[in-house]
Amino acid sequence: MALDVVILAAGQGSRMRSALPKVLHPLAGRPLVAHVITTAQQLAADGIHLVVGHGGEQVQSAVGEGLQCVWQHQQLGTGHAVAQALPNLAEEGTTLILYGDVPLISVETLSKLLASVTPAQMGLLTVTLDNPTGYGRIVRNADDQVVAIVEHKDATEAEKAITEVNTGIMAVPTARLRKWLPALSSNNAQGEYYLTDVIAMAVADGVNVAAQQAASATEVEGVNTRLQLAALERAYQRAQADALMTAGVTLADPARIDVRGELVAGQDCFIDINVIFEGKVTLESNVTIEANCIIRDAHIKAGSHIKSHSVIEEAIVGEHCDVGPYARLRPGTVLANKAKIGNFVETKKAIIGEGSKVNHLSYIGDAELGRDVNVGAGTITCNYDGVNKSKTTIGDNAFIGSNTSLVAPVSVGNGATTGAGSTITQNIADNTLALARARQVPIANWQRPVKKT
Ligand code: UD1
Ligand code: CA
Repeated sequence: MALDVVILAAGQGSRMRSALPKVLHPLAGRPLVAHVITTAQQLAADGIHLVVGHGGEQVQSAVGEGLQCVWQHQQLGTGHAVAQALPNLAEEGTTLILYGDVPLISVETLSKLLASVTPAQMGLLTVTLDNPTGYGRIVRNADDQVVAIVEHKDATEAEKAITEVNTGIMAVPTARLRKWLPALSSNNAQGEYYLTDVIAMAVADGVNVAAQQAASATEVEGVNTRLQLAALERAYQRAQADALMTAGVTLADPARIDVRGELVAGQDCFIDINVIFEGKVTLESNVTIEANCIIRDAHIKAGSHIKSHSVIEEAIVGEHCDVGPYARLRPGTVLANKAKIGNFVETKKAIIGEGSKVNHLSYIGDAELGRDVNVGAGTITCNYDGVNKSKTTIGDNAFIGSNTSLVAPVSVGNGATTGAGSTITQNIADNTLALARARQVPIANWQRPVKKT
């Protein structure tokens, strides 16, 4: 049986007060609607239909790749929105309706909802709230069967007292939807075509409405304002922090870690406060991350220690390395085991061999260092001539004196040494000392200038 997922994302989201369409505002570093799309993909949907309207071009180009985007030019209601996708739905099967601004709905909850659908039964996801103001109320008969949804603005006082509300998420036999949607009317308080009116139609057609409670209020929460967005972000981050701790990671403060992507961490890692993880990050066991680091798309191997205020991006850090404080590892950096990168060091496309050290104030770019190299403070690889990038190669056990400029392309042999302050423009053979600096001139009894009166 085919599964079609329709994601509603045409609304303006005016309460966000933003030029960016609401569904593109990020939660955990990704657009709200991208979370929903990922969830739909995990359900192995045959078709994912994104209903766009306000800012539709922007939404389409940001997240629409591989999806069917359906335009709803005028926002005439949720029923009207789903109706725009009807021509693209499979002939038979189930249609699941999701919302671009309800990002945290889980695959487990939706799988259960989908399992309840038969040709004679539809699934409706509900939630019970202490304060149901604004939501559609679930109306049940004396036998506790769901018979209708009444929107807040259309509800009687008695109906307003109902605390079980409509999440908006439902799973419906597609053939039924084809019949019901064209029959909706806009004769209600908001003059809109309400999707919720299909519930009464189901009951009239003898289709059972199987109501299922959401696992948590958070997973069905929608974002209308930036305050709600911030609250949902915190809820999401807290859940990730809890999962990390459960998996054996110590967090100095579970309220002060942000995971904007996917973090996999081995046992006995320690993460201090205000660390941000972005993209795909793997920490092997016994990794320590000190405060205020940003780590993006990186793999940090067992026992390594990242000291405070370091920024690591698209890099691989070997086992038992020391990085930072204040280090910046840029894309293409690969540290072999036991390498050391110290404070105010920037690396880019740099392979640093086992046990090698770049401890202070250096730039190592487009470079390959062997093992046990010592790079002195203030060393710069001059990798860019304004047009092209060139490579620096440094052999095993080389010693680069402080404040050396290595003008690439250039290579330094195994066991070679450069004198402090040298500007190296020619290759250095193995075990050779290269001195390339002006000679010191002593001028004895030098008279300093005196101030003119
Ligand atoms: C809707 C439900 C209500 C439910 C609530 C849960 C209806 C009539 N009511 O109310 O029962 O309790 O959600 O949050 O369905 N949208 C479009 N095109 C439109 C209208 C809406 O794409 O023409 C999209 C919006 O962008 C939004 C979603 O559908 O993401 C819900 O629309 P909204 O107007 O917020 O519905 P509510 O009044 O909150
Ligand atoms: Ca809403």
